[in-house]
Amino acid sequence: MALMTWNDNDFSVNIKLLDTHHKKLFDLINALHDAMKQGKVKDVLGKIFSELIEYTVYHFRAEEELFQKYVYPEYQQHKKEHEDLTKTALELKDRFDADQMRTVLTMETMEFLKDWLKNHICGTDKKYTKFLNGKGVA
Ligand SMILES: [Fe+2]
Ligand SMILES: [Fe+2]
Repeated sequence: MALMTWNDNDFSVNIKLLDTHHKKLFDLINALHDAMKQGKVKDVLGKIFSELIEYTVYHFRAEEELFQKYVYPEYQQHKKEHEDLTKTALELKDRFDADQMRTVLTMETMEFLKDWLKNHICGTDKKYTKFLNGKGVA
């Protein structure tokens, strides 16, 4: 079973491009979880993990560009949250890379990634829907 299941009601921010990004993040977390459960070698897990982080950074930038373009009042707080999440994800990846003996990601790491994505979309991201929709971004 997939770790994360998308449904518009819970997760849509009502902006097509950003929903597409968020869905891709769900897919990457699920791919990482599946690879972990299948006992894939560290190399394979590391590649998916890196891809997840790279795509996250790319997505955060896309949101921040929209915030700047339309002068979103909560830009600074939102950006700070992105920075904190990126930092934690990079720390987890460093720990994973440095761990010579263990070849699998822990379920704890997966739960952390799942929770931050869910909480960030449902809490922080959803706050921009009304503002950006009001600027004609949909
Ligand atoms: Fe965000
Ligand atoms: Fe987002």
